[in-house]
Amino acid sequence: MTSISKQLTQYFRQALVNAFGTDFAEIDPLVVLVSNSKFGDYQSNIALVLAKKIRENPRDIAKKIIDNLALKELADPPTTAGPGFINIRLKITYLESKLKASRYDPRLGIERTDLSQKVIVDFSSPNIAKEMHVGHLRSTIIGDCIARTLEFRGYHVLRLNHLGDWGTQFGMLIAYLDEVCPEALTTADALDIGDLETFYKQAKQRFDKDETFKQTAKNKVVQLQAGDEKTRHAWQLLCDQSRREFQVIYNRLDIKLTERGESFYNPFLEDIIKELDKHKLLKEDAGARCVFLDGFTNKAGAPFPLIVQKSDGGYNYATSDLAALKYRIEKDKAERIIYVTDAGQANHFAQVFQVAKKANIIHDQSEIIHIPFGLVKGEDGKRLKTRSGTTVKLRDLLDEAVNHARQDFEKRLKKEQRKESREFIDNVSQVVGIGAVKYADLSQNRTSDYVFSYEKMLTLQGNTAPYMLYAYARIQSISREGKIDFQKLAKDIEIILKEDTEIDLGKYLVQLNEVIKEVEKTLLPNRLCDYLYELSKKFNRFYENCPVLRSENPLKTSRLLLCDLTARTLKLGLSLLGISVLERM
Ligand code: ARG
Repeated sequence: MTSISKQLTQYFRQALVNAFGTDFAEIDPLVVLVSNSKFGDYQSNIALVLAKKIRENPRDIAKKIIDNLALKELADPPTTAGPGFINIRLKITYLESKLKASRYDPRLGIERTDLSQKVIVDFSSPNIAKEMHVGHLRSTIIGDCIARTLEFRGYHVLRLNHLGDWGTQFGMLIAYLDEVCPEALTTADALDIGDLETFYKQAKQRFDKDETFKQTAKNKVVQLQAGDEKTRHAWQLLCDQSRREFQVIYNRLDIKLTERGESFYNPFLEDIIKELDKHKLLKEDAGARCVFLDGFTNKAGAPFPLIVQKSDGGYNYATSDLAALKYRIEKDKAERIIYVTDAGQANHFAQVFQVAKKANIIHDQSEIIHIPFGLVKGEDGKRLKTRSGTTVKLRDLLDEAVNHARQDFEKRLKKEQRKESREFIDNVSQVVGIGAVKYADLSQNRTSDYVFSYEKMLTLQGNTAPYMLYAYARIQSISREGKIDFQKLAKDIEIILKEDTEIDLGKYLVQLNEVIKEVEKTLLPNRLCDYLYELSKKFNRFYENCPVLRSENPLKTSRLLLCDLTARTLKLGLSLLGISVLERM
């Protein structure tokens, strides 16, 4: 199905050619949706943009465009407004036919991209031997949503987990465990991740104070990098341990990822240094090899170096990222790479990208971006912590969300005097609890900090997952109440848009495609959340004003179809956010 804006764009282009000649055939007429439908449904300000180029009054240009603009079955005759805006109002008959057609479209009007672009989304990426923290949770939820959206649009998406599984910290950890818990280095599952994290902290303290220990740790790194069998095996065990813990979280959140940790790029690090050298980018600074960067200075205002090889020969986080970039562009043939981490790493990525450009690793065709996100805060406005002040474990956080959801649900069941089976209650609590955590995150503008509150994310009122899930389940209950199987409704049902709330809902339903494209462009999932929330509200208004089961055919079947389309839109939209729906709750 051609989308409305695409169709309008074609009509506009034709009008531009007719009015001003073939030179104007490639111009983007800038047709956009308008949020306030008082003046119409779409608007173009192309006349204002062209005014400079053709040196004419924008109002006159708008008039000329309108005189040549044939919108046919799509919209009423266009009008001009203000300094030269062109307003378009869709025809009701057009909307009706569009909605009728989307009934048999599993994509509900969302276009497939015609680019066969390869995209990498680098997200989640926790660190071995450390707990996954809320920052990784945000990265996981946002990255997954972006990957799902791009996959649905038809891009080839590679979801990469850039695990922190390499570097000096392993030397330290292995040296320490060798002393205090040697079995952890030879037997699987000797430790759990909590112990591992404690040992990690102790090892770090030792490393910072004790020169001899430091030397032993450094030797371990050398052994590890040189492929010493015993050390490698110990490292592998530690990685497996953490990996299993991470997998528990991924399973609960329904996240698919391809693991390619920092260690994967180890064999390519030396070449990166050679390549930087070839481009004459390397400078020695106190024994370390660095690249000096434009636009980055230290506190004293001196040029800031990015260290790519330490004085002891070891490599850095940035060096693996340079190697990863090269691999992804050359071997994976990625044309677009999206990194999802907290805003605190913005400088790191800006520096890595700058060096990669200078070294010709990134070329013009590739689009490499870091998309930052804000902090998760506790209700006290500070960084999210447990009551005892330690970092929140993700497992506990998810458990607690599910428990809260269960309590809320049991309260409601009691109030409504309903009895449900244990399995049913378990399932509702899971879906609502996990959905609420994801939705609370995605519905915020990605770049802002947000306050994590179980109470807020689980309320049935407002822009929350339970509200959306409830709207969906409510529509399913209409079908149960009326003993109607939406899928078995007659094939040739007409959509009739009569009442204002009905027209409003119909207009909104056909906008999904545009919203998804916006998410794709801005990589801001909250745009989709806002749409789904608004859609649920519009549906509720429609349902309050327009009897469905109590009306007569053909209005009844038309309204049933609108109900079904709304439910399918919610389901599809939520699935792109990584949230599943409930038929009953
Ligand atoms: N492991 C890093 C961290 O926990 C995130 C890695 C992000 N991806 C990357 N290619 N640097 O902060």
